[in-house]
Amino acid sequence: MSQMLYEGKAKKIFLTDDPSTLLVSYKDDATAFNGKKKAVLPGKGRLNNLISAKLFGILNKKGINNHFVKRLSDNEQLVKAVEIIPLEVVVRNIAAGSLSKRLGLEEGKPLKQPIIEFYFKDDELGDPLINDDHIRMMQIADDTELNLIRQAAQEVNRVLTDLFDGIGVLLVDFKLEFGKLKTNGNIVLADEISPDTCRLWDKKTHEKLDKDVFRRDIGDLPQVYEKLLERLEDVQ
Ligand code: C5P
Repeated sequence: MSQMLYEGKAKKIFLTDDPSTLLVSYKDDATAFNGKKKAVLPGKGRLNNLISAKLFGILNKKGINNHFVKRLSDNEQLVKAVEIIPLEVVVRNIAAGSLSKRLGLEEGKPLKQPIIEFYFKDDELGDPLINDDHIRMMQIADDTELNLIRQAAQEVNRVLTDLFDGIGVLLVDFKLEFGKLKTNGNIVLADEISPDTCRLWDKKTHEKLDKDVFRRDIGDLPQVYEKLLERLEDVQ
């Protein structure tokens, strides 16, 4: 077994023989509210691995550079080695979650234009909301890098909104992470894109097809993710 580099809440990262790649293994662990709520949900790792691999593959085809190389097994994928930029980049199309709470907006209210937010990725601080000035001051990214990240996030939003619309699903909001490639320092999309990191609602019924099912105890998460994977099967 190769050496584990890092274990996060939902994934383990292993070194490979090639220093330019890493192996990501998706776990069955579910966490919410910064780790305060926990459970093991058999099958969740496989579902997020399959869904994330599918979405990253499509984004690669659309010219949105990302770390995904190939899926290796039910729970594992090979990715390019990156140094993660400590930002959670959240894109929102419809009011929900912390935006609804912070601004008193009714959940489900469509936003006139997509909103991009930045959170400083730091568990101890509880991932605080920050702005461009904080990012510059803390030297998390310079202006050119931040522009690139913002543009990539908007492009991902256009591609994924269309893709989910095609299978009758609303892309309410989602979180992205970016990293610098170990090989040349170029910034690419990284981490995962799955129902753990997106809010997805059925277009007709507004049924939740994402981790809010676990956060709010309103259904069987693996069953819901399996249904989403089935809907994604025909998407190229
Ligand atoms: O909680 P909030 O409304 O700010 O979340 C916005 C989006 O970002 C949601 O889709 C949520 O699943 C995702 N998110 C995430 N990881 C976090 C925080 C939020 O994937 N640490």
